[in-house]
Amino acid sequence: MVERSELPVGFRWGVSTASYQIEGAVEEDGRGHSVWDVFVERPGAVKDGHTGRVACDHYHRYREDVSLMRELGLDGYRFSIAWPRVQPSGSGAVNAAGLDFYERLVDELLGAGITPLPTLFHWDLPQALEESGGWLARDTAYRFAEYTSAVVERLGDRVPAWITLNEPFVHMVYGYALGIHAPGRALMLDALPAAHHQLLGHGLAASVLRQHGRQVLIANNLTPVRAASDDPADVAAAAAYDALHNRLFTDPLLLGRYPDLSAFGVDLDDFVRDGDLAAISGPGLDGLGVNYYNPTRISAPGDDALPFAEAPIDGVPRTAFGWPVVPDGLRELLVGLRERYGSALPPITITENGCSVADEVGPDGAVDDRFRIDYLAGHLDAVARAVAEGVDVRGYYTWSLLDNFEWAEGYHQRFGLVHVDFETQKRTPKASYAWYRDLIATHRADHAR
Ligand code: FCB
Repeated sequence: MVERSELPVGFRWGVSTASYQIEGAVEEDGRGHSVWDVFVERPGAVKDGHTGRVACDHYHRYREDVSLMRELGLDGYRFSIAWPRVQPSGSGAVNAAGLDFYERLVDELLGAGITPLPTLFHWDLPQALEESGGWLARDTAYRFAEYTSAVVERLGDRVPAWITLNEPFVHMVYGYALGIHAPGRALMLDALPAAHHQLLGHGLAASVLRQHGRQVLIANNLTPVRAASDDPADVAAAAAYDALHNRLFTDPLLLGRYPDLSAFGVDLDDFVRDGDLAAISGPGLDGLGVNYYNPTRISAPGDDALPFAEAPIDGVPRTAFGWPVVPDGLRELLVGLRERYGSALPPITITENGCSVADEVGPDGAVDDRFRIDYLAGHLDAVARAVAEGVDVRGYYTWSLLDNFEWAEGYHQRFGLVHVDFETQKRTPKASYAWYRDLIATHRADHAR
């Protein structure tokens, strides 16, 4: 039996957050509007009309938050940079005050011995770019590279590794196909150009980062796909879903080609131009970020709208969100990536993994989130098993440091190691915070012996 303590020497421990989910201060220091500022105003878009206007007020409280991270003993902190703070209208003039904030944050982290791992795009596109087509427009990819230059010129000297995009799959599906997230477009399969243009943006930004000698990662939401039965129709549906969710976002990066999407009846040639795949795969990746929450079970569709249907996963615990808890799915995913991509697979960092729990501060002032501890422990055991099976996993960043604005769910889903009272902004470390701190300390001590 493999244990977490067998995670390799130098394994990096971290936490993840994202700008719109924690910063607040949406009108401050020259920040422009993002698609999320606009989307949250749409009646019914977010549960109870919640918005990220204040969120965790991290923009003003980042020092307190970094000291919570210091006490955890983290190696790294994954956060995201809000493009509309840096370029309020998405192109052209750079807002120095926006970069000043991230410079203060980076310096505070470095002072605490924590390596910053910024994500350049975690879904808060400048609204001005949405008005010229958002990620459906090819030009947005070029604008993303221009914005990347502005950021890396200011912070590149202190930040060794960068994540270009967060979950281009989820952004395409929720933002452009189903309209559940900003920018709220419900285009179904006509959303596919948003996948290609995000990937092209990744490739162009990656070249900029390379020119500055920086390391490049991307954070993909990946899921092991299981067919609901051995019936060939279910197996074919599972393969189609796997192509859309996983391969569409890893094959072009790692193999320089798109997967077979013929089951969807779409033709990528309509928007993929000569040279694009070389631009996407060419800069290479120093690491693949994997965001894992649960596996997916797929069966043949009941009607013809899509070539798959999602089937329930029964008999497992569920998070407050209702997501199935299947820790071994993470091992299965990691081993599957290695089998699929072999030597083309770069080292992996788990850039998100965590769960929502209906946490409450108890009468004694403590937050007893045993469910989260079990969730994290189970998933770290799964990572250790994947490592024992030969997968090169370099680090684990749990989602999330703080309870925060969980997109369309507003403040209803709590994912933090630290409880946030959104009335008072009081931070209360949960039991999982102490557990994670002790785990990190024990891992270091075991390897120091
Ligand atoms: C991921 C997102 C992240 C957070 C978690 C729960 O899909 O990247 O921002 O909302 O889910």
